[in-house]
Amino acid sequence: MPMHFLTLMDFDKTTLRALLRRAMELKAMQHAGKDHAYFPRRIMGMIFDKSSTRTRVSFETAMAQFGGHAIFLSPRDTQLGRGEPIEDSARVLSRMVDIIMIRTYDHANIERFAEYSRVPVINALTDKYHPCQLLADIQTYIEHRGEIAGRTVAWIGDGNNMCHSYIEAARQFDFHLHIATPAGYEPDADIVKAAGSHVSLLRDPREAVRGSDLVVTDVWASMGQEDEQEKRIKSFRNYQVTSELMAQANPDALFMHCLPAHRGEEVSAEVIDASGSVVWEEAENRLHSQKALIEYLLPHK
Ligand code: CP
Ligand code: NVA
Repeated sequence: MPMHFLTLMDFDKTTLRALLRRAMELKAMQHAGKDHAYFPRRIMGMIFDKSSTRTRVSFETAMAQFGGHAIFLSPRDTQLGRGEPIEDSARVLSRMVDIIMIRTYDHANIERFAEYSRVPVINALTDKYHPCQLLADIQTYIEHRGEIAGRTVAWIGDGNNMCHSYIEAARQFDFHLHIATPAGYEPDADIVKAAGSHVSLLRDPREAVRGSDLVVTDVWASMGQEDEQEKRIKSFRNYQVTSELMAQANPDALFMHCLPAHRGEEVSAEVIDASGSVVWEEAENRLHSQKALIEYLLPHK
């Protein structure tokens, strides 16, 4: 049975920490121009049912810098998009490529794919989770502020896939997560329950941000929710991360956003473009942390 990375709970705490340390080493190597072509001729299959800039480019670049190759597969051009069963696609693709990443809608579909795959499967975002983004976010926090254990993180906005992965990160990296959402947009109750005292569910963004070391938000309408955009703009109007809201956080608090961002909706231009915002480093770290992930899942031959 191959190892998969479908949620942050698939690895233990020690593995996750080691992975981030390795991500920092790989980053230093990359910045120093040191060759790290550890996976010549290895192939990654990349299945995208949704749009992407960062995820596609980071995985494809990672495989190229490792000396391997990546194949971009969209539903428009594959038989998956014409209804070939997930089980059959998993069996066929995993006899050809060495590792597979999938960005799709229903989380159950990636679980089904992984069950029938002979090679490791990476969750590159589903409606429920975005674990790869959390590797980059935690790496970024540690690089700027040191250990995240014992810190307080504020999640402002939608209880979405990113929020769910933040809840799991709170468990795995031992920080406290304050979540402020409008009524009706709370995260999944089972995911919250499993996190116990790591998570506090709140309504008031100011209360959530008070005393926090990191403030995080995300779009109000995720991919697949485009037709709810207007309704959501109204429901979330008091949840914009502004300078006034950031002023409630600890003085050296960082701001993160997985991107793409909508300035003037979930975050003001002033906050995302200010010095406490580390969104560009966060985006860059997708490359380095995913290299560490690939390396862990795909041992050197
Ligand atoms: N943050 C993130 O996953 O970005 P993309 O949608 O551009 O891949
Ligand atoms: N919550 C967003 C994240 C995009 C990277 C979405 O699912 O569209």
